[in-house]
Amino acid sequence: MKLNGILPTAEEKESSGGEGKIDVEHGCQGATMKDVSLALKPPMGWNSWNIFRCYQLTEEAVLGIADAMVESGMRDAGYEYLVVDDCWQAFARESSGKLRSHPARFPSGMEALGEQIHARGLKFGLYLSPGHKTCAMIYDRYPARDIGSFEHEQLDADTLAGWGVDYLKYDWCEAGRGGTGLTYPEAFSRMAEALARTGRPIVYSISEYGRTKPWEWAADYGHLWRTTPDIGASWRSVMKLVDRQHGLAEFAGPGGWNDPDMLEVGNVGINDVEARSHFMLWVMLAAPLMAGNDLRTMTAATRHTLTHPGLIALSQDSLGRQGSRVARQGKVELWRRELADGRVHGILNRGGRAVHLQSRDGGIVLDSGRRLVTDDGQLVCVWTGEPIDADGWSAALQPHEMILIRSDGRH
Ligand code: GLA
Repeated sequence: MKLNGILPTAEEKESSGGEGKIDVEHGCQGATMKDVSLALKPPMGWNSWNIFRCYQLTEEAVLGIADAMVESGMRDAGYEYLVVDDCWQAFARESSGKLRSHPARFPSGMEALGEQIHARGLKFGLYLSPGHKTCAMIYDRYPARDIGSFEHEQLDADTLAGWGVDYLKYDWCEAGRGGTGLTYPEAFSRMAEALARTGRPIVYSISEYGRTKPWEWAADYGHLWRTTPDIGASWRSVMKLVDRQHGLAEFAGPGGWNDPDMLEVGNVGINDVEARSHFMLWVMLAAPLMAGNDLRTMTAATRHTLTHPGLIALSQDSLGRQGSRVARQGKVELWRRELADGRVHGILNRGGRAVHLQSRDGGIVLDSGRRLVTDDGQLVCVWTGEPIDADGWSAALQPHEMILIRSDGRH
């Protein structure tokens, strides 16, 4: 039996908090199914759900996005996976039981789509669900039947591998209902085993909305796991999800990441300042960066945020340590993330009034006099790339604005 790609080195195991321990049946004792090398850094890509949702999802739209990923510089900035979410499926399986794509919206089929995606130097992601239904069948009246993977796990994994799929989003969608008897970890481990048996390296995204503390169990199977319900395109939603990340940092690391959901950067409902802070927070959280906007029509400001080299470098820092909120003063929050070489602080203004910052004696202080950042090394504003003078620098943080300040390794 062929297992899934390269096994982790001792160092990787150590830094990812241990390897997955499930054994594939038939005597492959002790074999690890999860290939941590597929996600040593938080995965980056684009996902169709936030912008196309269900019925607007078409082959033409997806290929337009693939082209835009290349032309806009997103691919070269590191966005690798183009993930086609729910509603790609025909309303029923073939008579052989195999899944097929919706004939009107994906007339060329998923194998051809995968080829087109690969031809652009991108990787191909698809969506499945472990029970009888996908979420769109429940929440978007998708009139399909039996397209969930329950008792079709191996067939569906083989089908996806045959189509050249590189990333699977496996989305709970009440998989325990309808007599399946599935528990959450069981649903996700069944597909992990099926994916391992295909022999194809496939990044495995576990989506159960943070309901069963997946950070405590999902690292055995997946490369990322949702920690929250669905994001919406509003500052309120972004803040709600951010507040649920507290205490989760220790569970993430190279090979397995907490996933607070896809990005809403560039979508209606969130302004440019908020979008930038949202992105900075996902960077501080070492979160997967899955863009969720229409890349074909994005503004220069949106592109600038999504492809900012200094922010992407922080996201992809090789230490892979998730950052956290470390202090609060009124509506101002202080965040910190340790890096392979130094650390980065974030100051977030959640309030409705501007907040003034200044440098004093090599640190950053609030107008209340509260000292926020103290570091001996040189401080640099990540967004502008400019050094912050030890004394005499000042800035105003607008409502919902965040600033990231990087300090080098010399402390
Ligand atoms: C759930 C997931 C979303 C999306 C939809 C698709 O709500 O959380 O991210 O995949 O299902 O129906």
